[in-house]
Amino acid sequence: MTRIAVLISGFGSNLQAIIDAVAAGQLPGVEIAVVVSNRKAAFGLQRAQQAGIPTEYRPLKPYRDTGRSREEYDADLATLLCEHYQVEWVVQAGWMHLFSMAFLRHFHNRVINLHPALPGMFPGTQSIEQAWEACRRGKIDGTGVMIHLVPDEAVDEGPVVAQQKVPIYPEDTLQALEARVHDTEHYLLVRALHDLLCAGL
Ligand code: GRF
Repeated sequence: MTRIAVLISGFGSNLQAIIDAVAAGQLPGVEIAVVVSNRKAAFGLQRAQQAGIPTEYRPLKPYRDTGRSREEYDADLATLLCEHYQVEWVVQAGWMHLFSMAFLRHFHNRVINLHPALPGMFPGTQSIEQAWEACRRGKIDGTGVMIHLVPDEAVDEGPVVAQQKVPIYPEDTLQALEARVHDTEHYLLVRALHDLLCAGL
């Protein structure tokens, strides 16, 4: 089995897409070993618990409060995933923390990130809102979703594993666009994981 960790910070709809895909046999040989959140209130933790998947709540604040660095947080989390859970791949699905090399060096290009925009567009947070505003200003007529490897500390860059355009329609509310983007994320993330982890099975 290929053991993956899914890292979340919020609602966890992308985590749910992976859980459902594994349960439906769409990701043969893949096992979610653990779900990690840096926010205790993340609903995704409940989704994992309901699916019988081990969860870890790992806030950064105790490190900051005791003068420990972000790199120490990253190194400790990597050690937990590798040694306690034997994790081979890390999936950042709405994970709102930028990893340093203190984490990434443990996974040798086996960390993937989901970003709700096309390569080179709207890095960081609020990407869907930024695309919606840019469309209203006539700058773009569509946005998209990408999944990329995270080899280093660059934000929302790295080799693209999968990407999909998402149209924006004139009558779109922001909520309608968000729903369309999230639907695309759910599909694309499972397809990317299948291409990366199940090809040839
Ligand atoms: C997704 O749009 C993800 O790309 C972004 O935050 C959202 C997470 O959604 N980083 P969910 O928690 O998977 O529902």
